[in-house]
Amino acid sequence: MTPVTERTPPLQTKLPAVGTTIFTVMSALAAEKGAVNLGQGFPDFNCDPRLIQAVTDAMNKGLNQYPPMPGVPLLREAVAAKIAAMYDRSYDAASEITITAGATQAIITAILAVVRPGDEVIVLEPCYDSYVPNIELAGGTVVRVPLVPGSFRPDFDAIAAAIGPSTRALIVNSPHNPSATVWSRKDMLALQDLLAPTDVLLISDEVYEHMVFDEQQHQSAARFPGLATRAFIVSSFGKTYHVTGWKVGYVAAPAPLTAEFRKVHQFNVFTVNTPMQYALGAYMADPQQHLQLPAFYQRKRDLFREGLKRTKFRILPSEGSYFQCVDISEVSDLREAEFCQWLTSEIGVAAIPLSAFYGNGFDQRVVRFCFAKKDETLNMALDRLAKL
Ligand SMILES: Cc1ncc(COP(=O)(O)O)c(C=O)c1O
Repeated sequence: MTPVTERTPPLQTKLPAVGTTIFTVMSALAAEKGAVNLGQGFPDFNCDPRLIQAVTDAMNKGLNQYPPMPGVPLLREAVAAKIAAMYDRSYDAASEITITAGATQAIITAILAVVRPGDEVIVLEPCYDSYVPNIELAGGTVVRVPLVPGSFRPDFDAIAAAIGPSTRALIVNSPHNPSATVWSRKDMLALQDLLAPTDVLLISDEVYEHMVFDEQQHQSAARFPGLATRAFIVSSFGKTYHVTGWKVGYVAAPAPLTAEFRKVHQFNVFTVNTPMQYALGAYMADPQQHLQLPAFYQRKRDLFREGLKRTKFRILPSEGSYFQCVDISEVSDLREAEFCQWLTSEIGVAAIPLSAFYGNGFDQRVVRFCFAKKDETLNMALDRLAKL
């Protein structure tokens, strides 16, 4: 018998640029130092107990086996009804809505379904950290276009210049993580005009769709026929119902796009957990749950901004999402990443550097706080920040 050799074959990584994310690093540092964690974007309060009860009810009814591949009809129909009510576009629940394991899986599945080696995909930086590795895994080429530094508004000339014969898709995210800006109707119309003569697909990441403040409306791609007909619209129940750990989201897309999406979805996750889908479907029957969310988060945003006035931070606008960015120039000479480490270790509040959302680490002296926290957590953080 040949002696057994214990040897793991060497691998050439498919994602050489990917390491431990800043979110993991900052959360670990925050835990080690006992800092208030306003870094990672998730609530520190519980969801509605009725939602938990609805999951328990579903489990007790025996709804614990594989659901239909695209998601349970009850939930898909609830999503279609919500989109029709809010954005005035009708999606067929059977052929145009798919339930996913969070927005993250929706985005990678859309990319794998449509991007081939050699295709270009445009991302607008700063951007959510999964987009770039997703495009690379599909063999696509990432084309980075910056949002205008300072205002984080879209630069349509720059986007137009980036579109070429190899452009397969553009990823847009509004309300925006990390800058908390919201695309206006005018922006969406400009995007619609820009894409009209092209075959570029749109991946519209709308996970913060129900967090738009100051009486503004979320301008979903669903509202714009020229965009909706080329778009995968992605949302997340985790963000909307304070259950980020459940990892349930959805994609709305025209039937031909959904058909391709489902081919990949089927052999990727196949299905998403059953009892939570039934619970979310039942819970969505009451639209108040998502309709009251802007007011719920606006109050927290205002509390946090008011407290920040006690610091020397320059407070940037927060039009939507649950993030608040500040300019640190008057407070420190440190670079963003070092500042966040210092803030966590010495002041006891964790934040995220915006440079983490740029491929080249662009440093504009801006950091992001998450205000999806109990008032007492926000007040504790603000008391600590007031020392600055
Ligand atoms: C812009 C953006 N897209 C997608 C996601 C992922 O959402 P989910 O937790 O549903 O996968 C997040 C979560 O932070 C996000 O901020």
